[in-house]
Parts: sequence; structure tokens; C-alpha cells
Amino acid sequence: MCGIVGYIGTKDSYPILIKGLHRLEYRGYDSAGISLITSNGDLVVYKAKGKVSSLEHDTADKDISGTIGIAHTRWATHGEPNATNAHPHYSESHNLTLVHNGIIENYKPLRTELEKNGLTFHSETDTEVLVQLIEYMQITHQCDTVTAVHLALKNVVGAYAIAILDKRNPNQLIAARKGSPLIIGVGKGNSTAGEGNAEFLLGSDATPIIEYTDQVIYLKDEEIAVLNRNGKCAITNLDSIQQTPQLQTLQMSLDELEKGGFQHFMLKEIYEQPNAIRTCMKGRIDPQNHDILLSGVIDHRDRFLNAKRIIICACGTSWHSALIGKYFIEEATKIPVEVEYASEFRYRNPVISKQDIVIAISQSGETADTLAAIQLAREKGCFVYGICNVIGSSIPRNTDSGTYIHVGPEIGVASTKAFTGQLTTLILFGLAIAKVRQTLDEQLFHQLVDDLMLIPEKMQWTLEHSKGIEQFARTFTYCKNFIYLGRGYNYPVALEGALKLKEISYIHAEGYPAAEMKHGPIALIDEEMPVVVIAPKRGLYDKVVSNIQEIKSRKGRIISIVTEGDTIVKNMSDYCIEIPDTRDSYAPLLAVIPLQMLAYYIAITKGRDVDQPRNLAKSVTVE
Ligand code: G6P
Repeated sequence: MCGIVGYIGTKDSYPILIKGLHRLEYRGYDSAGISLITSNGDLVVYKAKGKVSSLEHDTADKDISGTIGIAHTRWATHGEPNATNAHPHYSESHNLTLVHNGIIENYKPLRTELEKNGLTFHSETDTEVLVQLIEYMQITHQCDTVTAVHLALKNVVGAYAIAILDKRNPNQLIAARKGSPLIIGVGKGNSTAGEGNAEFLLGSDATPIIEYTDQVIYLKDEEIAVLNRNGKCAITNLDSIQQTPQLQTLQMSLDELEKGGFQHFMLKEIYEQPNAIRTCMKGRIDPQNHDILLSGVIDHRDRFLNAKRIIICACGTSWHSALIGKYFIEEATKIPVEVEYASEFRYRNPVISKQDIVIAISQSGETADTLAAIQLAREKGCFVYGICNVIGSSIPRNTDSGTYIHVGPEIGVASTKAFTGQLTTLILFGLAIAKVRQTLDEQLFHQLVDDLMLIPEKMQWTLEHSKGIEQFARTFTYCKNFIYLGRGYNYPVALEGALKLKEISYIHAEGYPAAEMKHGPIALIDEEMPVVVIAPKRGLYDKVVSNIQEIKSRKGRIISIVTEGDTIVKNMSDYCIEIPDTRDSYAPLLAVIPLQMLAYYIAITKGRDVDQPRNLAKSVTVE
């Protein structure tokens, strides 16, 4: 949830760290802080409540010199968001500073013990315990800082990614991780170590690193890295056994991290969907032979041939895509599919067998609950498959097989292109399994493949025909509640539409299966209540028309999503957005786009911070 950035090298660290914090701000933005060893050898800490820009403002007249530093943008867990609780935290002697992402679960007994030994704490955070513990270990064991980090981390229960500065050693940056991500960027000068231009970067993800180098090392759980100014990177495990770092090349470009002329990342990402879906399908469909080339499935053919059940675990928007995936996979493969909130699955001792396949869907690949769910599944001997976006993230590294959705970095906190990328991948996945199990007749299989290839073009059409939403969105700015209705494949789309509105406009919204309305929500309908109905021509169209009539007769205001050329629902609606015709199972890929735009434009009119909505974070690395 929090973002960590670090630098050691020959350049001024402050501008690199601030830029890195801006890139990581989507992970948390209630306070920010920076620590530097200045050119005078002072170990300084500057912190501010609010966004990174407040920190920049507050440091305008401070000493920001030096070529080594660590920085942090916070999403509060322990202690309210204020400058005191913001990271970095000092150790008692002010010789060490530390930034942390994660949760130290046993921080209370550790803190009590350290207080008994005379240490004073200034914040309410679990993080301050870590830095104090490291120093305490150093003093009591008379050892160097790196050894003290090993000793301290052995006493810690929980998750952490940390970076540490030691005033007495300005030539070394220490980093460690367990459960929370941390990447080391290996600067271009490092191959000529010792020639004076070596540098290392640290980041919670690759976004603060890519501008300087595409060579990275993904730190593994319980590894400690010591990054030296001379270009040496020493990695050990908690038992001090040396590990061999694996250098990897990042597949990311700087352009993908910029707004590219759009007012917000969210709008850019909505508009990117046609191309993102093309990239997602690229190399995975053989149009001549109507084949699906998904190595994650083909390489484990027998697993899918013998699968008795599929369980999909996910959170948030990814959970909505899982619900749609369930409908498609069951239809295509005849394997029963269950969808679970990862946060529930991990704690309820589920009945699972070795012939079950567990799928984790996650944009970030770092969601703590989803990671824990797959760890549980693996302990029970299941085959675990990951559907993720962020390359090299924790979930793909902890699964037996998987598929990247390849939609490029998603920066807006409200997920858009990742959702349609996940849906596309789930369709490819279902088709690939259907091929293995021979559960679809050839003609239908061919049609499904052909229709899928038309989706990017139809998304483009939808984007162009959704522009009018900007105008009528204003009408709904003052509404306090919204209802979203859909049936079949479009019921999860209703959930997703409602989630988008809640996330970025802070308007209360509920998604319902349309037929369930008469079992409760219909009591809420009056002339004040906007009801968004997803009513494409196929599927349960006639049933949805009846549901709309029930709303109209109670004076609800209807915003409908219909198939191009529809007149029946259009005539019953106050506002109507058309999408091109497609098969029932693919309609969510198109129907969600106007809902993303509706949420976006309502939020904009309300003056909300669309890319960084209050209280949310994009990557939820704590439970
Ligand atoms: C957070 C984000 C959502 C996302 C959810 C699951 O709540 O704000 O946009 O859907 O986490 O994240 P994941 O990375 O696992 O898809």
C-alpha cells in the first residue's frame, strides 16, 4: 500500500526520490517523507501530512543535498495520517532511518520490551519499532548494522519491505523484504563497478526505476540486500547465507507512466482499452486455425483435462471479473467454477482437493489477501494459476502457471483497462481449456474466436458513442444514491459500475441482479433515484425490459446501456448509451465502458480527485 523509493549513486538523490514518490503515489497518499545523508554527513528527515507536493513545499528551504536517500508515501495502517506517523522514522540515537511497507504484527510486545529497556517512541506506528529494534540489536550484540538487521528481522512477525540509511555509513543502502514487494534497479554504471558512476535504485515497483535503468533484481522473501556505492550488491537470506541475484530486464516504457495529454490517468486508461485488449490477445490467437495459444494451459494440459473444479480467488474489481469468468468458463468447459473473496477464502479452511485448480486474479499481483489465499491452496496441494498484470509481481512468482493480461501499467486507482484485460484473458483461458477437453463444437469455437477478435474495434465504437455521457453526468452530481442493474453476464457489470461510482465520486451505489430488485431494493425507488440498467439485446433482454417497467412505474430515472439500434428500452429511458451488438458472454467487455465514463464524469463534476480517491490505494499489500 505504501510506496518506497531509494537511491545511492553519484547524482543528487532528492530529485530522483521526489519523482519516484510521485510515480508511487497511487499506492498511498496520506503523508510522505524523505531521509537523506547530506553532503555535510547529516542524516536528515523531512515529513509532511498529505501528498508528495506538500513534502516538496515543506523542503523548499531545507538542505536537500546528498547522493543517498530513502523516501516513502504512506497509506496509514497504525496511527492516523500525520507528519509524526509518516515515514522515515529515526532510531533512538538518530543514526538510522527506516521506511517500511507492510505490517509488523507483533509490534506491541516488541515495543513494550524496548520501552522497558529505556527506549522512547514518538509515533503510533509499527514501523518505529523496527528501526528501534535494529539499533537495540546492534548495541546489545555489538555488531554492524547489517548483522543487526538480520537479528531484528528474525524477531519480527508480519510483512515488510524496508529501506534503511545509516549515518555512519553513507556508502551503503540496506533493503529487505518479506511479503511486500521491493525491486532493486541496477544502474547503467554498475558493470564498470568502481569507476565512480555506479548507482542503485529501490522501488516498491518498477515505476520509479524505469527512467534510469531497465535492469532490475526482484528481491525475494526474507532476503536482505546491501547496495554499495561502488556498485556491489550483496544479497543474503535471514540466516546470512549468500544468495545469487538474478538480473532481469523490465518490459515497460516511460510513456506508459505519463498521462499523454489526458486530464487523468483513469480517462487515459479508459481510452487505452481497445489497444490494451489487442495487446492482451496478441500471439494468443491463431486466426487461421482458430486456435488459442495459451502456454499456461497447454504446458499443463493434464491438469486441465483432469480438473474437477476451479476456484477463483480475487478482491475488488478483480473479483467482479472473476464472476463473469465463472459464467464463461462453466459454459465453455463444463467444469464447475466457484468464486471466492480471497480475504474470506484464506480464513475459512475451505474444502479443496488436489484435482481442484485455484486461480488468483490480481491487477497488481501483490494483493495480500489474494497472495495468502494461493499460499493456502498450495499448502493443500492444488495447482495454482495466476492472472495478473504487473510483470514479476509476487502472485506470478508464487503460482504454478499463469497468464499476464499485458494491458500495460494501470496508474488510476479505479481499475478500468485491467478489468477488461482480465475478462479477455478469462475468455482465452476458458477457450484454451475447452480445446483441451473438447467441450465446444468446432463451429461454435470458431465463432467465439472470431467474435473475440472484433472486440477492440467495438470498444473503439463504444468509446466514440459514449462521449455524450459528459453532458448528462452533470444531472446526477447531486444524487446521494444510485442503483445498477443487470442480469446474467451483466449482473457483475452492474456490481463493477456501482463500485466505480463509489470509488471515485463517493456516491453510494448498489449493484443488483435485476430480478432481485423486487426483493428489497425496489422500496428505494422514487423520482430521486437514478437506476442504471445494462440491457443489451441478447441474453435475458425481455426480462430486463419488465424490470425497467417496474422501475418506471415507480418514477425511477433510467440510464440504460443498450444494443445499437434498440428502441424499446431507449424509449423507456431518460438517458441511453448504445454499444455494438456482440454475443452475450462478450457484452461485459463493451457495457462496462460507458459505466466507467459515467463514474468518471460524475466524479469530475463533483471536483473529486479521480486518480487518487480518498482512503483508497491501488496495491493493497496489507490485509
Ligand atoms: C484495490 C484497488 C482496486 C482493485 C483491488 C484488487 O482495492 O483499489 O482497484 O480491484 O485492490 O487489487 P488487485 O491488484 O488484486 O487486482
